[in-house]
Amino acid sequence: MPALNGPRSPDLLNLIRWIAMPLSYMRDCNDRYGDCFALNLGYKMPRTVVFSHPRALEMILTSPHSEEFDAPGDLNAILEPLLGAESVIGLSGDRHRRMRNLMMPPFHGERMRAYGDLINQITDEVTRTWAVGKPFFLRKVMQTISMRVILRAVFGLEQSRSREMETLLGKLLDLLGNPFGVSFLYFPFLRKDFGSLSPWGSFIRKRERIDRLIYDEIADRRANPDDARTDILSLLISARTQEGEPLTDNELRDELMTLLAAGHETTATALTWAFYWIHKFPEVRERLSGEFRHSDSADHGAIARLPYLNAVCSETLRIYPVGMLTFPRRTTSKVDVMGYVLEPGTVVIGAIYLTHRRKEIYPDPEKFRPERFLERRFSAFEYLPFGAGARRCIGMAFAQFEMKLVIKRILSAFELGLVGDRWVHPIRRGLTSGPSPFRMVVRKK
Ligand code: HEM
Repeated sequence: MPALNGPRSPDLLNLIRWIAMPLSYMRDCNDRYGDCFALNLGYKMPRTVVFSHPRALEMILTSPHSEEFDAPGDLNAILEPLLGAESVIGLSGDRHRRMRNLMMPPFHGERMRAYGDLINQITDEVTRTWAVGKPFFLRKVMQTISMRVILRAVFGLEQSRSREMETLLGKLLDLLGNPFGVSFLYFPFLRKDFGSLSPWGSFIRKRERIDRLIYDEIADRRANPDDARTDILSLLISARTQEGEPLTDNELRDELMTLLAAGHETTATALTWAFYWIHKFPEVRERLSGEFRHSDSADHGAIARLPYLNAVCSETLRIYPVGMLTFPRRTTSKVDVMGYVLEPGTVVIGAIYLTHRRKEIYPDPEKFRPERFLERRFSAFEYLPFGAGARRCIGMAFAQFEMKLVIKRILSAFELGLVGDRWVHPIRRGLTSGPSPFRMVVRKK
């Protein structure tokens, strides 16, 4: 039976390395201890066993094994200050399943594709101000696009409330975006309100203002019901629990906040990486342009199916997955995972980043090579940028759809270039990972 090893340094040191450099820390542990290792991060966080082998992930994440593993929401309590106690991410068991079922439909199929025109319109609106030769930070632009898409398409927020929300939410998520800010989530004792200029004080004041906007929107919708609306807020307002009860304002607020926080930052990061890679390698840009020349711009479904565009988006999410890890799962009985015997109550996690870097699945894993997605298919546990099983990302189809439309729209209208030739590297952004800041410039419109 293989021994379960892991770093023996003090918990606090482990946690600091984890917060400051999560990817290199994971790689180090993988090099030293192999496929599976145990991390002690202290601060009320349980010892966590990290797996990255696809066979182990299949056991941990899929439902046939649900008698052995569950996906309890209490393990995600770190997100509660932002998302609230009723967020789908914090729910467990049946309540979790039911809430997911309520929230999923607008992010799939025809309902989702109906947002195509709006995504294009928002992309045009945001890039309209681009001037030839004037450098800009691409990330800001992608954040604005993904935020407006989620506020307008998914919540159907009207323009003025949407703009105010966009500004406030952008600031709030930026506060949590760096290693210092995210420490509030990991170290509860740092949450001290020393007025609006102190970091935590500023966070809670912004959160209060956002809550006010959300509650005002909910009140307006309840006062003026409109059956023709198909946005998720309207759907959730009219939804009933098994007992026939409507969701409370508090529940609605937490689900809306969850979708805003989980859906906006992640998609913006994925798009930012995609533009970086496309312009780092001119041959990728060229091949994409060729594919676009032969496609029908008005057919959103056809764009979503373009093979090379799909390969570029897939490789972008493979090489530096925005969500580095799955949410934690917990053993409900004694279980053997590839020879490692885990006691009941053991917390386990899938290291998506390490799985995507496995040489036997992805030769030259550190190389950006979209062709690998044209040459073979990967199983759901070899390639899992959106996780798998009970907590698989609700916005998976929507995020990929949005990425493809935005890339196509911008590349068809502009010739862009990277400013300078520095390699961009991954850094922590809140609970996710994203590219270090870089600028781009419009060469030709
Ligand atoms: C490129 C963009 C995105 C990436 C890489 C991403 C990645 C992930 C990952 C890795 C998980 C954890 C899955 C697991 O533990 O098995 C997750 C969960 C989740 N994602 Fe995403 N996501 C993205 C976009 C979105 C969008 C657009 C939305 C919604 C608008 C969204 C909403 C959620 C929610 C609500 C969960 C929690 C599901 C649950 O607890 O049942 N995500 N996502």
